[in-house]
Amino acid sequence: MIVSSKPAPVAVALDAPDLETAARWAALVTPHVSTVKIGLELYLRYGPQVVATVRGASGVSVFLDLKLHDIPATVAGASRAVARLRPDVLTVHAAGGPDVIRAAVEAAPGTMVAAVTVLTSLNDEALSRVGMSGPVPEAVIRLSTLAVEAGARGLVCSPREVAAVRSAVGPDVTLITPGVRPAGTESHDQARVATPEEALRAGADLLVIGRPITAAPDPGAAAAAIAASLRRLGTPA
Ligand code: C5P
Repeated sequence: MIVSSKPAPVAVALDAPDLETAARWAALVTPHVSTVKIGLELYLRYGPQVVATVRGASGVSVFLDLKLHDIPATVAGASRAVARLRPDVLTVHAAGGPDVIRAAVEAAPGTMVAAVTVLTSLNDEALSRVGMSGPVPEAVIRLSTLAVEAGARGLVCSPREVAAVRSAVGPDVTLITPGVRPAGTESHDQARVATPEEALRAGADLLVIGRPITAAPDPGAAAAAIAASLRRLGTPA
């Protein structure tokens, strides 16, 4: 397949039931998108081999979404262990605190450590029940600032928060947003969604998109269509 332009700033969430399906989806979408995302389920089921399998020979960026959350020494050890696999992005919970972020950054120097701020599954009430002061948008800014000061070069936040996070952390931090749905597609279990165009306009750098691509009859065509719509927007896709 001939693809003339740069891949779109999209990380396809390979939330597949098995390794073969993940590898097939990765092969179909990598001509069109910059990144594929491996989540906890696939990694725990298949282990480190999943990274090489989905990367294949394509050179696509690999986003290892392990959302590490433990004491600094343990996160350092875990980050060092997965750094061997050369993931381009590795996630760590910002709520672990600055020493945890710093530990991951130091242990995986060739990888962008991205801090997860507040899970999009948490609302104000849930946040207060776990003892974190809210409301959610304030907690997101607080955790974003803490994570960047501790050395995180990326942040994961909802598209609804991306503009405020961008103003708080400046232009040099990579903002990664899940909860992205092309207009007219199903929102599944995502409560607060934005279209790819809205998310990029608000300042996102990398859009995490799963089921709108992987559950489509032709995942390659769905990825190509999203990439084309982003190019029409005049983004650097
Ligand atoms: O299929 P869908 O586009 O909803 O997939 C979104 C991906 O982003 C999933 O892998 C999900 O685990 C992940 N994610 C999310 N919300 C967060 C963090 C990660 O949906 N706050």
